[in-house]
Amino acid sequence: MAEPIFACTMKDLQQNGGRKRMTIDGKDIFILLHKGQLYAFDSFCYHAGGPLYQGDIEDTSEYSCIVCPWHKYKLTVQSGEGLYYSVNPQDLKSPPQLCSKGAKQRTHVVTRQEDRLYITFSYTVKPLGTVESDHYNGLLM
Ligand code: FES
Repeated sequence: MAEPIFACTMKDLQQNGGRKRMTIDGKDIFILLHKGQLYAFDSFCYHAGGPLYQGDIEDTSEYSCIVCPWHKYKLTVQSGEGLYYSVNPQDLKSPPQLCSKGAKQRTHVVTRQEDRLYITFSYTVKPLGTVESDHYNGLLM
């Protein structure tokens, strides 16, 4: 079992507007504090390597998504699942439906011990296979 690695303090994260990018063990990641919850992702977007760490947060009734600044792809903060709106061409009067592309962006586990935040990389917890963002984050050659 992998040991959690110290990432930063909660105070440091809050002083950075609830978002902090860093390199740990050669991996470029960022931690996000959103609605009191902590999340961690690889920094570069699965689609074309865009700066996901700069993405705005968009909340729907069901999901909170980080929106990549380059092409506006939406990824859930909870799991890195890609979401998109689908229109039924046979029923154009119905509103677009939110659909899933599956897990696209690698997320990591953030734990807190008092003011200290730790990262446990997801690829060391259990073999998850690969996700598309691994290509831009040094896991796939
Ligand atoms: S690089 Fe992120 S949506 Fe295209």
